[in-house]
Amino acid sequence: MIEIQALTKVYGQTTVVDSISLTIEAGDICVIVGTSGSGKTTLMRMINRLVEPTSGRVLIDGQDTREVPPYELRRRIGYAIQGHGLFPHRTVSQNIGTVPSLLGWDKARIRARVDELLDLFQLDPAQFRDRMPNELSGGQQQRVGVARALAAEPNILLMDEPFGALDPVIRAKAQDDLLAIQRRFDTTVVLVTHDMEEAIHLGTRIAVMDEGRLLQYATPAEIIGHPATDFVSELLGGDRPFRLLSLETVASLLEEGEATGTPIPAGASLREAYAECLWSGREALPVIQDGRLIGRISRARLARSAARPS
Ligand SMILES: Nc1ncnc2c1ncn2[C@@H]1O[C@H](COP(=O)(O)OP(=O)(O)OP(=O)(O)O)[C@@H](O)[C@H]1O
Ligand SMILES: [Mg+2]
Repeated sequence: MIEIQALTKVYGQTTVVDSISLTIEAGDICVIVGTSGSGKTTLMRMINRLVEPTSGRVLIDGQDTREVPPYELRRRIGYAIQGHGLFPHRTVSQNIGTVPSLLGWDKARIRARVDELLDLFQLDPAQFRDRMPNELSGGQQQRVGVARALAAEPNILLMDEPFGALDPVIRAKAQDDLLAIQRRFDTTVVLVTHDMEEAIHLGTRIAVMDEGRLLQYATPAEIIGHPATDFVSELLGGDRPFRLLSLETVASLLEEGEATGTPIPAGASLREAYAECLWSGREALPVIQDGRLIGRISRARLARSAARPS
């Protein structure tokens, strides 16, 4: 759906994006990771022509974006920027309704859409629609920023560190909101982060960048299993085994038999199960699904799985 071909951006003498090619399938979440200054934002902004490429091209559904006027692209492609970027003197509903208004939707349709999105992000419309941005918490502002990017039902959503400012709990919640929305609307998402954990959690594929170059573009499991360079390994950090555990659910290591204490849901990650074993000092945990006991998961098996992934 999005084909990036030899895309390059040069400022003065410096090549900040160096001939990057990658294809993002429709309905995928492509996460771009890399250190500060590696060119992530520049690469992303060339997709909707907020930055004009020096050379190379971007095709969206086969159409060269140079043939589409930039304002048209920006209406078609949702964009949530670093921080939240809300208009400070507009209410929540005016913020969310920005692009639908530009597109000439009628008032009733805009209002229905705003309320739908507020509901989706678990912000009660009656309570939040008329508030100003400064009357919201940081996490709420960020959710409104994402709602605004989604308002006109774009097929493509670009997100530049959308969850950067959130504390870990709200961040996890916002990530799950995004996944739910992405599945519901089958949106193609390109998300920039410098957090590998977030990339692994959200990405269908991860693009690792360093100094303007694309080092690896692969699924989370491939990146973890076979990092292309030492730099990629470094980004993964020292707790690589635990990242492997984050990728699989308890259901994948289910054993027959019983165990005592608080059960863990079959859909929890292996990492959560391992942490629970360690914290509660148990050798095994009962596993439940839909409220029913379906077996157990043992610490020994979890440890083996972390050390030597299947
Ligand atoms: N308009 C510009 N003029 C000159 N240099 C620029 C311009 N915009 C970005 N750069 C440079 O391009 C490089 C890549 O910037 P970019 O914003 O893409 O990095 P990034 O990976 O998004 O970093 P961060 O994680 O800090 O947001 C940086 O060295 C930056 O200084
Ligand atoms: Mg950036």
